[in-house]
Amino acid sequence: MLKFPSDFAWGAATSGPQSEGTFKKKHQNVFDYWYANDPDKFYDGVGPDTASNFFNDYKEDLALMRKAGIKSLRTSIQWSRLIDDFEKCTVNQDAVDFYNNVINAMLENGIEPYMNLCHFDMPVELQHKYGGFESKHVTDLYAGFAEQCFKLFGDRVKNWFTFNEPKVILDGAYLYQFHYPLKVDGPLSVQVAYNINLASAKTIERFRKLYGNDDDKRIGIILNLTPAYSASDSKEDKEAAEFAELWANKMFLDPAILGCYPEKLVEILKRDGVLWDYTQEELDLIAKETIDVLGVNYYHPFRVKAPEVSSKSLQDWMPDIYFDEYEMPGRVMNVDKGWEIFPEALYDIAINVRDNYKNIPWFVSENGMGVSREERFMDENGVVHDDYRINFMKNHLKELHRGIEEGSNCHGYFVWTGIDCWSWMNAYRNRYGLIRDDIHTQIKTIKDSGRWFKETSDNNGFEE
Ligand code: NOJ
Repeated sequence: MLKFPSDFAWGAATSGPQSEGTFKKKHQNVFDYWYANDPDKFYDGVGPDTASNFFNDYKEDLALMRKAGIKSLRTSIQWSRLIDDFEKCTVNQDAVDFYNNVINAMLENGIEPYMNLCHFDMPVELQHKYGGFESKHVTDLYAGFAEQCFKLFGDRVKNWFTFNEPKVILDGAYLYQFHYPLKVDGPLSVQVAYNINLASAKTIERFRKLYGNDDDKRIGIILNLTPAYSASDSKEDKEAAEFAELWANKMFLDPAILGCYPEKLVEILKRDGVLWDYTQEELDLIAKETIDVLGVNYYHPFRVKAPEVSSKSLQDWMPDIYFDEYEMPGRVMNVDKGWEIFPEALYDIAINVRDNYKNIPWFVSENGMGVSREERFMDENGVVHDDYRINFMKNHLKELHRGIEEGSNCHGYFVWTGIDCWSWMNAYRNRYGLIRDDIHTQIKTIKDSGRWFKETSDNNGFEE
């Protein structure tokens, strides 16, 4: 039996915009707006309006999740739902009632709430008026929204997160066009990254003003870490992997935990003339307001080789002038999702956090397997027999366990996701849930993986 530490949290993750639906929302976030204006961009034309209907079904959904062994749930509060007037930071009472009901229902079901404040869901008004996180004014508005959340819900929520996967905001919205506003602007993405690090520090500052060093309350950030492995031992490939590591991981990890940007990254960006607007006062705030806890979303590694220099230039600067992705022969792929399956990287992350990031308390805030057309594996009772997902979780948990045995301070594993949920552009193409959602009837049925998860969470481990 592979046993986990006694305080280990077994949970699931989702987000407001991917589960709630747009019911009773006064404002649109960037995805609501994008879908309303360009529905053909979304898989099967399915948008966020109903999602998995959590707004209406939250009571039943939470009870069902508890039946699948989910004892902690990470979701997010939508800025575009909670706030009525963004400048004055007044709240919408329907939304306050909704999030209060959700948090209370979690607690009634024995589910510990983990609340995230930004899951890519910038209110579109602020995107159009100010450029979203391109603007420092928006970082202040964001900290104001966060403070409202702490005041309204902090009596019951102990674990808070300033951002989920900020790197994806850069990739999707400023580099590779898979999130609204679909810009392609490398230097601007550097400014946005900095502003997000600043917004995170400002949010932590508000949190600490309210709670001081109350040990019962923690604030963190959730980062998608993709360890970068070099294609070979050549100097060029190793340099490419080093840059990929700086860009993909350290640009957010270092400020969040060590309080500063990695020197090497700053050196390269400045050498390239990619400059961003900062002040000493802001850098001091980032240095001071570091996190208590780190959430790590891990899905796949980054295989990197030196770039084909001829096709890339410093003009129109993009981060990938420094690296190309490399398809390592023999790697194991999730064919549906197109991502490599490499559980060993979770061990490498555990050791990296232990050795280079103060062995800060951390947890796996997302890990999971997206599979398309899961009805292929469904029986006549609607139960999906998803051994592939059970094996995926087992293999990742084994590597995580190895890291914990070697001293890494990890205290939880949250699967993405509890109930199949909607996704940006991909809608329901890849399903990740321990529980299937029939999006036409909203009937929800626990999959084999949900039964396995319950057993594992009740036993705090599993038979190998
Ligand atoms: C990461 C994101 O946090 C979530 O929004 C997304 O749906 C999952 N990964 C699956 O790709």
